[in-house]
Amino acid sequence: MPNITFSNPNYRDKTVYAVAGSHTETILSIARAHKIPIDFNCADGECGTCVIKVSPLDDKGIMGSHLTEKEKTVLKENGKLTAQDIENAEVGDIAPPWRLACQMIVRDQDILVEY
Ligand code: FES
Repeated sequence: MPNITFSNPNYRDKTVYAVAGSHTETILSIARAHKIPIDFNCADGECGTCVIKVSPLDDKGIMGSHLTEKEKTVLKENGKLTAQDIENAEVGDIAPPWRLACQMIVRDQDILVEY
């Protein structure tokens, strides 16, 4: 079971929250279940409010995970994702650092989520 560490410098003096996530839930649903205040609006991959930065907490690099079409569109529109990033994710299984919390499903890896 992966551990997800949430961090935001504006809340509780940079307190981090480490929680266990499942492979079926989005980062946003895990955060909401643990009262971690990630900003969101649509919760459906359309507004871009829930952009997060994801980093691995080991030396393997972040494991690839499926980017939804909505996530690709929104992240490209706000400059967080390039065509090369998409190819790297889809062909090389290399995940981009910027994701949408309402679209990203965790994989079996401990990660840091900055929001
Ligand atoms: Fe709108 Fe995630 S909350 S894209």
